[in-house]
Amino acid sequence: DFKHPHTFVIFGASGDLAKKKIYPTIWYLYRDNSLPNNTKFIGYARTKQTVSDIREKCKKYMNVRPGEEEKFEQFWQVNSYESGAYDKRVDYELLNQHISKFEKGPIANRIFYLAVPPSVFEKVTENIRNACVSIKGYTRVIIEKPFGRDDVSSDKLSNHLGGLFKEQQIYRIDHYLGKEMVQNLMTIRFANKIFSPSWNRENIASVLISFKEPFGTEGRGGYFDDFGIIRDVMQNHLLQILSLIAMEKPTSLNPDDIRNEKVKVLKHISAIDKKDLLIGQYVGNPDGKGDEKLGYLDDPTVPKNSVTPTYALAALWINNERWEGVPFILRCGKALNERKAEVRIQYKDVPGDIFDGKAQRNELVIRVQPGEALYLKMMCKSPGLKFDLVETELDLTYSLRYKEADVPDAYERLILDVFTGTQMHFVRNDELTEAWRIFTPILKKLEEDNVKPLPYVYGSRGPPEADDRLATYNFKYSGSYKWQKPELP
Ligand code: BG6
Repeated sequence: DFKHPHTFVIFGASGDLAKKKIYPTIWYLYRDNSLPNNTKFIGYARTKQTVSDIREKCKKYMNVRPGEEEKFEQFWQVNSYESGAYDKRVDYELLNQHISKFEKGPIANRIFYLAVPPSVFEKVTENIRNACVSIKGYTRVIIEKPFGRDDVSSDKLSNHLGGLFKEQQIYRIDHYLGKEMVQNLMTIRFANKIFSPSWNRENIASVLISFKEPFGTEGRGGYFDDFGIIRDVMQNHLLQILSLIAMEKPTSLNPDDIRNEKVKVLKHISAIDKKDLLIGQYVGNPDGKGDEKLGYLDDPTVPKNSVTPTYALAALWINNERWEGVPFILRCGKALNERKAEVRIQYKDVPGDIFDGKAQRNELVIRVQPGEALYLKMMCKSPGLKFDLVETELDLTYSLRYKEADVPDAYERLILDVFTGTQMHFVRNDELTEAWRIFTPILKKLEEDNVKPLPYVYGSRGPPEADDRLATYNFKYSGSYKWQKPELP
């Protein structure tokens, strides 16, 4: 299939996502010769502009190494730009003519990337369907969240899309599914005999999935305020990770077999209870530098009395034979002390203790970013004459173990998957339905009751109350051990 002409259209070509993520990604894929040879890229947006304007805007987000300058020129030569309205069919007919010009030969495929605001989503997809589908090959559409803002609006969108395209043509991106360590979860679990017998309620006390960012909503407050951290990160990225940690073994690696298992485990999760949620919102740090001085409410694009959470901690319960009673704690926040995404699987205390309570719990830690690592926290005898215990780890740090490996960006893998037609790392419609079923009631309740989030200081670990809450979910934090990122010798 890769020898035929392909066209990749970016709707919203003048927007933030396009310049920061999509153009850089297609450049890296083009540079590495990963895409079909005969691929053309077309930007589309309302703005009247040229390819060189786009090039200028993307410049600081695109890495061009010495020796790649010529290839970079070639890349821009296979780019073009069309301006048009999102709601006028004639403009799409012109776009269709433009695409057709490149499509020599009996087969030609088209991919449409929707990097547009949700308000024009339905119009754009409708017009693609009416005026731009490929008649000589496949048509695939890539869409980005927000997929609605609750169960009803998400269903409406799904029905709309379902009326225009087959599920096999729709690629819902959750970019966390493109991350190395998230893709690794299935291998860790199902290709290692050592973990599977203990992957259950008999052995595991709790599972903590965290996402932390050291910056606030700077400049994105307008979008963010309507969604909040629960919709922005928890309902999608963290829940996706949860489903890969908790699902049963799929019958095969077939994308639908995997997604069937993900849906199945989500169905065992009841909607989040109010008592299992804690929310926070950051306030400025008067002693901080620059943006740290500013709280969420100081963002001019945020309404003064907003109660939108920028931090959330929730416990989810999976009512099946493997997990009943094990809290799955999802925790995420902006304007915190560090950037980190990780999964922490905490094992129970060793029964029949002979070490005077000195043994700390085992933890399997999957560090998604930064610095991919997999490490197992365990107890050992302290080396030397004494017969003491010491907390230590079995450590697989990627940068040490795989020095040559180049871990690609999530978007690179996912966009390539669309070209090859692999839906394994994309969200299926029924997964989305389950995700909204779990989250909609609590989101409604927060709005109805106008629940005030707990304040936390920009650059802190989050609201102090969150640590106490964590302890109630059978997650023990001793504070006596800190993993040190190993240094290269
Ligand atoms: C996005 C959220 O989906 O993920 C952002 O909308 C967040 O708010 C981002 O910053 C985090 O992605 P990454 O890949 O930087 O961890």
